[in-house]
Amino acid sequence: APATEYQAEAATLSEASVATNHTGYTGTGFVDYVNAVGGYIEWSVSVADAGTHTLTFRYANGTAVTRPMDIAVNGSVAAAGVNFASTTNWDTWADGQVTVTLNAGVNTIRATGTSANGGPNVDRLSV
Ligand code: GCU
Ligand code: CA
Repeated sequence: APATEYQAEAATLSEASVATNHTGYTGTGFVDYVNAVGGYIEWSVSVADAGTHTLTFRYANGTAVTRPMDIAVNGSVAAAGVNFASTTNWDTWADGQVTVTLNAGVNTIRATGTSANGGPNVDRLSV
C-alpha cells in the first residue's frame, strides 16, 4: 500500500514543540525537540496488515553531530539509538528509516531523543 503521512505537528509531544522557523517542511510546521534527553513525539498510526513495515521519519539536523532516537512501537523500544545524522543545515531534510513489526489496526510509534542535544527537527512520519 502507498505510505500514509502523519505530520509531526499533529502528534502528541513531550519536551518538544511545533515550529516554523526553517524552510522546507510539509504540512503546517515541524517539531523541535528541547535540547535534553527524553523528549518525544508519539503518533497513532494505522495499518491494514500485521507484520513488517518501514517507518520513514523526515528530519533535519543542522549540526555536525548525530541526534540518536529510540523508536518504540506500542510501548516497547523496537529500534534503540537510531542515528539521525547531520543534514548540513536546518533547511535541508532527509529520510531516516526503521523497519518494525506492527499490528493490524492502530499502533503507537514514539520517537524519543536519547542524547543531551535532544532529537532532530522532525517534519513527519510515513508508514
Ligand atoms: C536551532 C534551530 C532549531 C533546532 C535547534 C537544536 O535553535 O533553529 O530548529 O531545533 O537549533 O539544536 O535542536
Ligand atoms: Ca531542537
